[in-house]
Amino acid sequence: MSVYKFMVVAGARPNFMKIASITSAIEDHNHSRRVPQIERILVHTGQHYGEQMSASFFRDLGIPSPDVDLEVGSSSHAQQTAEIMKRFEPVLLEHTPDVLIVVGDVNSTVACSLVASKIEYPSQRGRVRPLIVHVEAGLRSFDRSMPEEINRIVTDALSDLLFITEESAATNLKLEGVAQAKIHWVGNTMVDTLLKHRDKAKESKILSQLGLQQVAGHELRSFAVVTLHRPSNVDKRESLEEILDALLMLSQKIKILFPMHPRTTHRIREFGFSSKFEFYESLQPLVDSTRIHCIPPLGYLDFLCLTSNAKLVLTDSGGIQEETTVLGVPCVTLRENTERPITVSTGNNVLAGTKKENILRLALERMEQKVRPNRPKYWDGEAGTRIVELLSRLVESS
Ligand code: UD1
Repeated sequence: MSVYKFMVVAGARPNFMKIASITSAIEDHNHSRRVPQIERILVHTGQHYGEQMSASFFRDLGIPSPDVDLEVGSSSHAQQTAEIMKRFEPVLLEHTPDVLIVVGDVNSTVACSLVASKIEYPSQRGRVRPLIVHVEAGLRSFDRSMPEEINRIVTDALSDLLFITEESAATNLKLEGVAQAKIHWVGNTMVDTLLKHRDKAKESKILSQLGLQQVAGHELRSFAVVTLHRPSNVDKRESLEEILDALLMLSQKIKILFPMHPRTTHRIREFGFSSKFEFYESLQPLVDSTRIHCIPPLGYLDFLCLTSNAKLVLTDSGGIQEETTVLGVPCVTLRENTERPITVSTGNNVLAGTKKENILRLALERMEQKVRPNRPKYWDGEAGTRIVELLSRLVESS
């Protein structure tokens, strides 16, 4: 029986929920003895690390332990990207995969596809490089000041197969001259993971740990959840202050919970904004305060439980715009643009930009509106399976 090697790369927090669906689909494929069998090699670049930003996701989502950990850690974009490339090249040469799967738009995604695009190793078919597959291809914010936009454009240009989550991605790729045959509309692996873990997330203790049932007399949807980490929002004093002031005004109307990304924590301390927050190192019942209740980054199941029960989510994340769409929780995006326009056209998400008045106006408006859960085409829990079955057919026939 033929066996093909699929290497899967993950580096940063938003990658983990995407690869979870792919590694699980590979396991199902092998388990049901479908051909060809797949040898899976999982590489963690170590772009994100530690319990809160990495290990808890592997545990919550049942992702197998990485076969290789590059342990690159944090540094500037150039240094981090270069370090991943240097450490990834020998790994490719050692394992000689037939297929390299990269997901999303982080530095690990672009670094590993760039190495793979220039490598050559001996195989039964002569000297080859792996087939490069980009999952979540074609998304564009049309804002090249975002590091992720550069990562998306470069990764797509280097990839042999482009697996897309929504129709706008096909349009973008065609406008960039990508051949139709390379583009496959497979669905959304992040949504696969959400649907699979939704029931388990209901068992999370986070609501009672935060005293939310007591505060609201069992009446949930009494709080808003905020996430913020984009460099354009948090790295500049004025931009961060403008957003935080909007949140402080909003906190007069609704409790705000802010699981804070380490980048944002560093900046808030550096800019001297700590007095705007109640900071907690562990989960504590909310106290009656108009300051923002700030907690450490949450694991996947706790965060899913929290957002599922929120009245409103305010975020600058890409993935959370998609998750709230499926959950039917109104989302106010703290950015001028989105690379995920389907979340806006379904009516779940609005772009508020970063000006105080707009954020406050839209947040207050959205709090009073009901939005229905939406499942755009192929956001059905089967994207990982489509990806693995399509790839196994392609490698077998190549
Ligand atoms: C990265 C991704 C971004 C993604 C985000 C999700 C790129 C270009 N950016 O941004 O697309 O939305 O992850 O979280 O790849 N830090 C820790 N622990 C960690 C990781 C980081 O403390 O596990 C701190 C470090 O001080 C680091 C800072 O957070 O300098 C920022 O981390 P970094 O990985 O550089 O970028 P993110 O802002 O997380």
